[in-house]
Amino acid sequence: MVKGEFTVAASNSPAYTVPGMTEAEGAEVIERLRLRLHALNDLALTLKHVHWNVVGPHFIAVHEMLDPQVDSVRAMIDATAERIATLGGSPSGTPGALVEERTWEDYSVGRADAIAHLGALDLVYSGIIKDHRAAVAATDEVDPVTQDLLVEHLRSLELFQWFVRAHLESAGGTLSTDAAHTEAAAGRVAVQQARR
Ligand SMILES: [Fe+2]
Repeated sequence: MVKGEFTVAASNSPAYTVPGMTEAEGAEVIERLRLRLHALNDLALTLKHVHWNVVGPHFIAVHEMLDPQVDSVRAMIDATAERIATLGGSPSGTPGALVEERTWEDYSVGRADAIAHLGALDLVYSGIIKDHRAAVAATDEVDPVTQDLLVEHLRSLELFQWFVRAHLESAGGTLSTDAAHTEAAAGRVAVQQARR
């Protein structure tokens, strides 16, 4: 398809939705799930990118830790897309839609030490978890079934972030990357701390 020809599917106004919800409520939840779907698709791709680009002494631990996370996130993607369809919407699953509509930057670390990727991944997980929690709060009244799905995702996403953070944590319980607010900075700090 020619660049610029891409059009977003008109999923805002479903012709029907699940029983017990109005079409307007369905539309609101579909819209809310649109970016959750993009965020999860982005996360699955980013985790594979790290799986392929991690180097250094902890290569195999991090390389192998990430594939089960990818599998789990891919299951979340499928469930989110199918929830959108169930609500009468059209899930948007193309890379063009993701890049056009996402509100965050692309993952910024290329080939790098395991600890640098872990510092950056911690921030990636913080972003998606924060936004998922906001969606949980927003769906509290309107759709507890979607809310339940998002809570289920969070149970795993927060666990996976702990797996990442455990590599950055000191025996005293502090994170080496605590003050870093960008992926590149978190990566640099994590490497410096690991060398101490
Ligand atoms: Fe692989």
